[in-house]
Amino acid sequence: MKIAIINGPNINLLGKREPKIYGTQNFLDFFQELKDTYSKIELIHFQSNIEGELIDKLQEIGYSFDGIILNAAAYTHTSVGIADAVKAIKTPVVEVHISNVWARESFRHNSLLSPNVKGVIAGFGMQSYELAIQSFSSFIK
Ligand code: DQA
Repeated sequence: MKIAIINGPNINLLGKREPKIYGTQNFLDFFQELKDTYSKIELIHFQSNIEGELIDKLQEIGYSFDGIILNAAAYTHTSVGIADAVKAIKTPVVEVHISNVWARESFRHNSLLSPNVKGVIAGFGMQSYELAIQSFSSFIK
């Protein structure tokens, strides 16, 4: 099974960025732990701060991978382009957020992506990503 984690803007700052909200762990360290735990799954990670690069990656892998875990970060709330890409591709997408976006500012309550994803996991810290991996085994046979 091939699963990609795609992270959007500022997720590269995890560990240094607002630790009360996002925790103290660097994403790359966490990703290595995920790869060790889920060694039978082919897991890849891509991060970009650039909207078009996220769209390019969704298009590139969105017809061949079994699952995409997408934390589009701030673009979740603004990007018609990423929403259209999620709708266009064949690979199921699970939308992930580290924080509980509904417990935060009102501009974070709306996601342009949610109508076209398989489901949304938010508010469990870094464990949101792990729950997303586990969710794929329930609907990919
Ligand atoms: C986030 C929530 C977004 O509102 C925010 O812009 C982020 C991260 C999260 O993982 O909690 O950058 O997607």
